[in-house]
Amino acid sequence: MARKDLIAGNWKMNATHLEAIQMVQKLGYRLDPGDYDRVEVVVCPPFTALRSVQTVIESDYLRIRLGAQDVHWEAQGAFTGEVSPLMLARLGVKYVIVGHSERRHLFGEDDATVARKLRAVLAHDMTPIVAVGETLEQREQEITEEVIGGQLQAALEGLDPATVGDLVVAYEPVWAIGTGRTASDEQAAEAIGFLRRRVAEGWGEAAADRVRILYGGSVTPGNVAGLMAKRDIDGALVGGASLDPDKFASLVRYWI
Ligand code: 13P
Repeated sequence: MARKDLIAGNWKMNATHLEAIQMVQKLGYRLDPGDYDRVEVVVCPPFTALRSVQTVIESDYLRIRLGAQDVHWEAQGAFTGEVSPLMLARLGVKYVIVGHSERRHLFGEDDATVARKLRAVLAHDMTPIVAVGETLEQREQEITEEVIGGQLQAALEGLDPATVGDLVVAYEPVWAIGTGRTASDEQAAEAIGFLRRRVAEGWGEAAADRVRILYGGSVTPGNVAGLMAKRDIDGALVGGASLDPDKFASLVRYWI
């Protein structure tokens, strides 16, 4: 079955809400209606800009989808500083990144936390983008498959095959994030092929055929086409290059 490509921009902690409005407007101008038929385009602004970006998307009839970078697992409560899945869903958020390596490594999120967040996103009818990835040290120790296989297993444990088929997974090697050092097309395809086989083993071939698996880590307009040419790579999760609407639009239109 054909999986629709998905290219998501993770803006991380960048852009005030005013800057975000300009960024999404520019992106909208640079994309043609036909582009959205080929690629699902997602932007993940910081929490403070979600409402503004949502308003632009809606009022300009853009087909850009709204994503969030993180979420808490409870719908409400005494969790100072956190943002709930209910709040995101009510804002029209469709995708939520869970388990980004910056959350895991800088903020100490473990597999159990990632699994809780993933379930909360599903419970509010949004789609999780589950990020997994190994550090350079782990790659050099040749334990990449154990690490990313373990992260995937912990996040998806107990989900039914239909749910897993609807998910998005992002393979983001930590050593490639923000470093300008992309995984080669072969390294990315190898890891993503491994993750897809893992899904097949755990949740069946139908789920493995449907689940979309993205690559993330120093993706640019210059290297996206090579990555997208790989059969198992269904899209990209883009950090730095997504902050420039010209770059991000040309990356979305990777076939041109
Ligand atoms: P860069 O594209 O800046 O390397 O970031 C990748 C990333 O972490 C996307 O989530």
